Amino acid sequence: MTELKNDLYLRALLRQPTERTPIWMMRQAGRYLPEYREVRKQAGDFMALCKNPELACEVTLQPLRRFGLDAAILFSDILTIPDAMGLGLYFETGEGPKFERPLRDLAAIEKLAVPDPELELGYVMDAVRTIRRELKGQVPLIGFSGSPWTLATYMVEGGSTKNFSVVKKMMFAEPQAMHLLLDKLAQSVTSYLNAQIAAGAQAVMIFDTWGGVLSPRDYREFSLRYMQQIVSGLTRHADGRQVPVTLFTKNGGAWLADMAATGCDALGVDWTTDLATARSLVGDKVALQGNMDPSILYASPERIRAEVATILASYGQGTGHVFNLGHGIHPEVNPEHAGAFIDAVHELSPAYHR
Ligand code: CP3
Repeated sequence: MTELKNDLYLRALLRQPTERTPIWMMRQAGRYLPEYREVRKQAGDFMALCKNPELACEVTLQPLRRFGLDAAILFSDILTIPDAMGLGLYFETGEGPKFERPLRDLAAIEKLAVPDPELELGYVMDAVRTIRRELKGQVPLIGFSGSPWTLATYMVEGGSTKNFSVVKKMMFAEPQAMHLLLDKLAQSVTSYLNAQIAAGAQAVMIFDTWGGVLSPRDYREFSLRYMQQIVSGLTRHADGRQVPVTLFTKNGGAWLADMAATGCDALGVDWTTDLATARSLVGDKVALQGNMDPSILYASPERIRAEVATILASYGQGTGHVFNLGHGIHPEVNPEHAGAFIDAVHELSPAYHR
């Protein structure tokens, strides 16, 4: 395997010294880039793009050609697993993801099989292998999955939701059905991420976008517990290197200490928690990733730079910080503003590593 030319991201996740703070952006490949929109048009629809390893590789690399990013993230989606389980994923323009066959009862959940990642999700592994080959060791490649709870919300609701009533009804009225579903998903996510690691992913991240809609008790029982199960089952060494694991629960600021206790290496933090607070909660147990509000990118480059300075100061001196947005970049953002954001991290962060 080619030696990594830039391993700042991996070192920061493992809390080893770095000369500056590494940066990548959630949804760094996406609709805010005209070159993405061009390839997406060529592919037809979004899932066709995900299922074409050459095009998925191309859009993964696009943001790296423009910006000084320290990691690439596999271009795919968290909903590939439910799609592989036979729920029939489709995207309706402007409406987000939908399933043809949402899960509504225990019988449907009992019929679900854990997908074989090299068969039903072979296109994802082909994309990982293609991207690793084309990256030529420039930066590390991040693999990812959704958390069992977050996947379950889409699978039971049949798509995006505002009040989570269908999935919460199942959770409270039929908890054994929900636990069976979450256990099958935890097994599926573990084998999916291990297959991504075997195919070449050098770090992995679990997106728990909707853990923050649960009470503290329900979060532990229905989301964190299954992420813990996944962390315990992951391949943590590959190619003679440690494979860091990042957990991200959006709106999960109150639970950072519990999340750090899972044995993961890093936690994603959104902008509703200051990094200084987050750091005081987790100590030197894990690294922290975040946490600029993506909407700051609508403001001027000067305003963006001031926010970067504030966030760097909030984390403070030393390693263990991976700069990122607190959630995905919005499609309307001007790419030049994203560039100003990334440049500001390059320019202002070395002072925190002396
Ligand atoms: O970060 C990256 O660059 C990697 C790619 C990536 C995508 N989705 C591409 C995508 C990642 C890491 C995801 C994860 C994902 N997908 C999450 C977890 C992270 C988060 O955002 O909270 C969730 C909840 C999903 C489910 C999903 N996929 C939704 C809700 C949507 C529609 C949202 C929208 O903006 O319309 C998608 C589609 C999707 N996934 C797009 C991209 C680039 C937009 C598709 C397009 O129209 O081109």
